[in-house]
Amino acid sequence: MKLGFIGAGFVARFQAVAIQQVRGLEIAGILRRSGAAALSDWCREQKLGEAKVYDSIAELARNVDAIAIYAPNFARVAVMEEVHAAVRAGARLKGVIVEKPLGRNMAEASRMVTLAREAGLRTAYFENQIFMRSIRTQRDQLQPVARTMGPLTLTRSAEEHGGPHEPWFWDPTRQGGGVLLDMGCHSIAVGRYVLTPPDKDLLFLQPQSVTADLGLLKWGQPKWRAKLLKDRGVDYAKTPAEDFATGMITYRNPETGQIVKAQFTDSWMFEKQGLRLFMDGMGPGYAFEVNTLVSPLSVFIGDAAAEAIADQETALEKATASRGLLAVQTNEADLYGYTDENRDMLEAFSAGRDAMLDWAYGLEVQRLVMASYLSAERGRSVDLTDRATLAELDSYIPAIQQGKGAAQLL
Ligand SMILES: NC(=O)c1ccc[n+]([C@@H]2O[C@H](COP(=O)([O-])OP(=O)(O)OC[C@H]3O[C@@H](n4cnc5c(N)ncnc54)[C@H](O)[C@@H]3O)[C@@H](O)[C@H]2O)c1
Repeated sequence: MKLGFIGAGFVARFQAVAIQQVRGLEIAGILRRSGAAALSDWCREQKLGEAKVYDSIAELARNVDAIAIYAPNFARVAVMEEVHAAVRAGARLKGVIVEKPLGRNMAEASRMVTLAREAGLRTAYFENQIFMRSIRTQRDQLQPVARTMGPLTLTRSAEEHGGPHEPWFWDPTRQGGGVLLDMGCHSIAVGRYVLTPPDKDLLFLQPQSVTADLGLLKWGQPKWRAKLLKDRGVDYAKTPAEDFATGMITYRNPETGQIVKAQFTDSWMFEKQGLRLFMDGMGPGYAFEVNTLVSPLSVFIGDAAAEAIADQETALEKATASRGLLAVQTNEADLYGYTDENRDMLEAFSAGRDAMLDWAYGLEVQRLVMASYLSAERGRSVDLTDRATLAELDSYIPAIQQGKGAAQLL
């Protein structure tokens, strides 16, 4: 299958590394934008496909089988409008992929779903953490235990690092918020997935309520705020975003009535080696735990040798140190689930189906993220069974996303 990339930045490169490990998928085209020429050269060197750079989405769409949207959050809808127009003009696409999040808010996410539906495209919502082998394997391994003892009742999911790499991520009006939208969407999705009985639909558990709390714990302090302004051009004294988010979502099993809970914690103020994904789960008499900073490989680099290190991110995504005892992951694309989400998409689109996680699923993740913002903004628990609240969420734009988060965060 020939893929066309829209976006040639950080995640596009990660996805290209994942695609190296998937048979039958080639990177045939890339939209001309910053990073496209370098990514194209690299794809050709790696024999991943022609990776021809196209000047317009219309032209790209005419020459590939599926489009992957790896552009920033603020460009989602405009990009998808162009994909929609390309299909209307005759491009024969099988499907369209979008990286998380589906949009900055429910209105944008719903618009994405509508555009894909109108264009008759199969969809894949790329939420890599659900495809992590550690997550899938614990589910398979613990399924017989859960059948005998009862399901998991509590899960905790966390994604944390020291802060994103590009200025637009830090600007709540362009990204859509702070760490809750950027990484909370992962933790919220994987938490629900882990609690869902393996033989049930992904949306089987019914959300009951969410209680969330946000903070600006590091990057709001004068010293760090000044650094952010200097390095990223974003002024957190005026338009702050949260660098810490936590919350608890309560779900109900509609068959048994049992209540289960998923806690999420996400931060851009994590002061350890680099990116850490942490998940655990508790069932009656059994449990699991995933911690991606635990690797069978660590290296030690002493002060005298530290100058030889060119790029610490070759060891670990968002690595913050280049000396001492360092955790190294040898295949991060696979570890974090990028490889298997591409495999799933390839199989599904080839068979004319939506991927395991389609955009309607992405919309449900968006709803829970927006409900978490609402809870933090109002300082109370949000009832997810209340029709009026659900209707309110459809048009809700968090104050932080509007650039008005100062009263809430400072
Ligand atoms: N799954 C994950 O863990 C993960 C990790 C990182 C990023 N992401 C998501 O991937 C998306 C891209 O993030 P990134 O880190 O690669 O960002 P980035 O800033 O590194 O790269 C963005 C790319 O999009 C291009 N671009 C900018 N504006 C555009 C426009 N209007 N139309 C088309 N292309 C445009 C840029 O030139 C660049 O090539 C975001 O939505 C982000 O949330 C997901």
